Formats: sequence, C-alpha cells, structure tokens
Amino acid sequence: MKYLITGVTGNIGPLVTERLIGAGATPCVVTRMPEKARKLFGDRVEVRLGNLAGPRTDLAEVFQGCDALFLINTGPDLGERDRACALAARDAGVQHLVKLSTLDVKTGVGTGPWHARGEAAIRDSGVPYTFIRSSAFMSNALSWADSIRDDGVLSSSTGEGKIAFIHPDDIAEVVVSVLTGRQTRNESPIITGPEALSYRQMATAIGEAIGKSVRYETLSDADAMAGALMWADRAYAEVLVDIWRAVREGRLATVSDGVQQVLQRPPKSLGDWIDENVRYFAKKAGRS
Ligand SMILES: NC(=O)c1ccc[n+]([C@@H]2O[C@H](COP(=O)([O-])OP(=O)(O)OC[C@H]3O[C@@H](n4cnc5c(N)ncnc54)[C@H](OP(=O)(O)O)[C@@H]3O)[C@@H](O)[C@H]2O)c1
Repeated sequence: MKYLITGVTGNIGPLVTERLIGAGATPCVVTRMPEKARKLFGDRVEVRLGNLAGPRTDLAEVFQGCDALFLINTGPDLGERDRACALAARDAGVQHLVKLSTLDVKTGVGTGPWHARGEAAIRDSGVPYTFIRSSAFMSNALSWADSIRDDGVLSSSTGEGKIAFIHPDDIAEVVVSVLTGRQTRNESPIITGPEALSYRQMATAIGEAIGKSVRYETLSDADAMAGALMWADRAYAEVLVDIWRAVREGRLATVSDGVQQVLQRPPKSLGDWIDENVRYFAKKAGRS
C-alpha cells in the first residue's frame, strides 16, 4: 500500500505520518513547503510538492501511484477543494479517500456546512471514502495558554455548556487504523473524547496540573468575536463564535463510542493531554 498524506505541517497530519512510518511504511507527503516537511521527516517519507487549492489535473499528477489518501482541507472553500481532490484521486486511481471531517456536519454548526459540502462532493466522485467526523481537538486549548500563564484566567463565551474535546493522538490512531485496515468503506465514524466538560471544569483541571488556581471568566458573544478577530480572519472568527454559542446552548455535548469501536480501547482523557502539555500553561521559573 502506498499512502499519501496531506496537512503534514499542521496538527493531525504529522501524527498520522509518524505512525505510518512507525508501522514500516514510507508515506508520500503533499506540501507547499517541502523544506519544512524534510525537516520534520527527513528521508523517511517521499515529499511531493503540491497545492490542494490547485487544479484537478495538477492534483492528479501529485496523487499518481498512491492507493490511499488522507485528506485535510481547511477554510470556507474547503468543499471546492475536496471536490477537486476527489476527482483528481479518481483520475489517479486512488482506492480509498479518508477525509478529516467534523461531527458538526450533523449539527450544522461552525465549519459543519463547509465539511458537508466537501463530503457530498467526495461521495459524488465515486471514490470509496471514510469521513472521520471528529469533535474539537484538545490542542485547541493551547489558545488559552498565554492568558492562563500570564493572568491565571481562561475566558470564553461558552458559559456552563460542555463539549467532549478529543486527544489528537486518538484522531491520528483512528485515521491510521482506517487507512491500513480492512474496515467497510463509505462509513463516517463519529469520534469524541471520553466525556463532555465545561470550560470552567477545564480551567480547574489545568489549574490543578500547574498548581495555581485558574479563574474562569464568561464573555459575551461580542467580546468573544473581538478577541477572535485579533488572530483570525472574519470568516473563521464567525465560525468560532458560532461554535462557542452552540456549546453554551448545550448543542455540542455529544459523546460517542467511536474511538472504542475503531481502536478497541477508550479515548484518552483531557487530564492525559494536560499532563503531556503542562509546560505551555505553567510560568517558567524566574519569570515574574
Ligand atoms: N480544530 C478542531 O477542533 C477541529 C475539529 C474537527 C475538525 N477539524 C478539521 O480538521 C482539519 C484540520 O484543521 P486544523 O485547524 O488542525 O488545521 P491544520 O492541520 O493545523 O493545518 C492545515 C494543514 O493543511 C495544509 N494546507 C493548507 N492549505 C493547503 C494547500 N493549499 N495546499 C497544501 N496544503 C495546505 C497546511 O500546510 P501549510 O504548512 O502549507 O500551511 C497545514 O499542514 C480542518 O478541516 C478542520 O475543519 C478541526
């Protein structure tokens, strides 16, 4: 089997790539930044220069010779990118397209409508697929690191609503299991963390790990939007505020047994993730 992996400089792509290498494969990685990919993986991968926003004909060349494709697309036009990638995959003879999607395809919240368009286009292409419908990543919590470290505060517009963040390792292991396994095609497993937690509970858990109390502060939607616009473009900021509102209203508290079903073990907990990443939240010795 020849695996072709996208998103290798992002959050999940590198974890998938490392696991495939660990299993003895030499995956192809598609990137706009070959130097960065070489720095990450050396000669343990085959690096292919490619732009997922490029035309179908170029993409078909990039996908040539690969049996299974792990596809990550981002942004408001990801549906169109998924369409071009699926048609290119069909042209190149790819046998299985595994797309990182979101469980919000069902709720219609946040990036759900973008991914719903992408899933529909892939389905229409006729390429056998698996859509991994993931809940929000635990690593999103890194966006709170500065304010927790500097001010001891986690602020959010999610009120007391809950969400079952998932560990990135669990996503990667599910992806690898699906890519390398013999599971039935054309399925859409929903994967989440083990329990839905409020942001207040997450603040408390991080505080316990760093040995300092972390105050939870509620924000209005308007204040949350102003904060998001400081680092995100408007389309993405609107998506985030929509997600946070849905959390507050109790619409995103889904907990699934998807990780257990695929991996035959329970998902990792938020406590596991915090223990592995505590350095980002704790003040360095000597800093005032
Ligand atoms: N974050 C969450 O909580 C969450 C939850 C559920 C689903 N998701 C979905 O998971 C996916 C990954 O999201 P993320 O935020 O974690 O993104 P990410 O993996 O951190 O970043 C995106 C990756 O795609 C690559 N990329 C972007 N545009 C490209 C292009 N035109 N050609 C080639 N490569 C390109 C980037 O490479 P460069 O280095 O070239 O930029 C980067 O490696 C998204 O579809 C998101 O909607 C996220």
